[in-house]
Amino acid sequence: MSSRSEQRGGSGATCGARSMGLRGAACVVADSALREHPLVRELGIPTAEQGADGAFLLGEHEQALDLRPPGEHDRRGIQARFPPDANPPENRSSGAGRNPLVRAFGKKPIEEILDLTAGLGGDAYRLAHAGHRVRAFERDAAVYAVLISGWERARNRGSIPPAVALRLSFSHGDGADQIASLDGMNIGIYLDPMYPSPRHRSAKPRRELQVLRALLGGQGDAANLVERACEKAARVVVKRPHHADPIVSGASFEIETKLLRFDVYVNPMRMKASPGE
Ligand SMILES: C[S@@+](CC[C@H](N)C(=O)[O-])C[C@H]1O[C@@H](n2cnc3c(N)ncnc32)[C@H](O)[C@@H]1O
Repeated sequence: MSSRSEQRGGSGATCGARSMGLRGAACVVADSALREHPLVRELGIPTAEQGADGAFLLGEHEQALDLRPPGEHDRRGIQARFPPDANPPENRSSGAGRNPLVRAFGKKPIEEILDLTAGLGGDAYRLAHAGHRVRAFERDAAVYAVLISGWERARNRGSIPPAVALRLSFSHGDGADQIASLDGMNIGIYLDPMYPSPRHRSAKPRRELQVLRALLGGQGDAANLVERACEKAARVVVKRPHHADPIVSGASFEIETKLLRFDVYVNPMRMKASPGE
């Protein structure tokens, strides 16, 4: 686990915008029963007896942390669940497969993938399951707490294939810092930034996404992240809603599904040819 902790708004009753470039972010308090929880302590998440007005509530359900929006403390909270899919995507050894995210990283060797917007870890898991080594980073302390406690629960229950557990790690930190210190060849970067809800939509997004959106709001620093990633990585994959503009123009190609698009940016300067090429 990373040693970085965000500073949060003092006592549980204080809600306001937070640091680290988040726009419109709300505040989170942990249930007072979690006062001694290692993640709550390490991440400096304040606790409150009855929650706090206007605050998201971090609680615990079935041995993992969950997060509930203000006013919805009676509903189930969101949790990180692993494996995230009933039918996992194909293994990389059987070709890039049909999963569009796995296809977006292609067949050419990628040493490792940095998922710099880990969220609840589903996409990082899918990539690791497909055979990639993945290091995933989440900068929001509450989201990270939910993510890592769900991951630890799944590992303790033996729900994760050992090879996948070896290939995948989660840390608390800002993806921008990872890009700054990146120097290798054949590195892939995956970005799935938050985007505002479209005005007209036919289907409601999953509850997890609704809650993350309510907590984090739109995040205005995504373009900067994509531009910097494109300078340092051999391949950058950016998830976008189907009809949204690219965050940065000039994608090498796109992979589209009914609801989503993956914009793929290839940088030959950051590729090392594999033997025989
Ligand atoms: C849409 S969610 C990602 C969902 C994820 N792909 C999944 O499978 O669950 C976006 C997440 O990226 C995180 N994030 C955005 N910018 C970040 C950055 N610069 N560094 C680390 N995390 C970031 C947000 O806090 C949020 O949790």
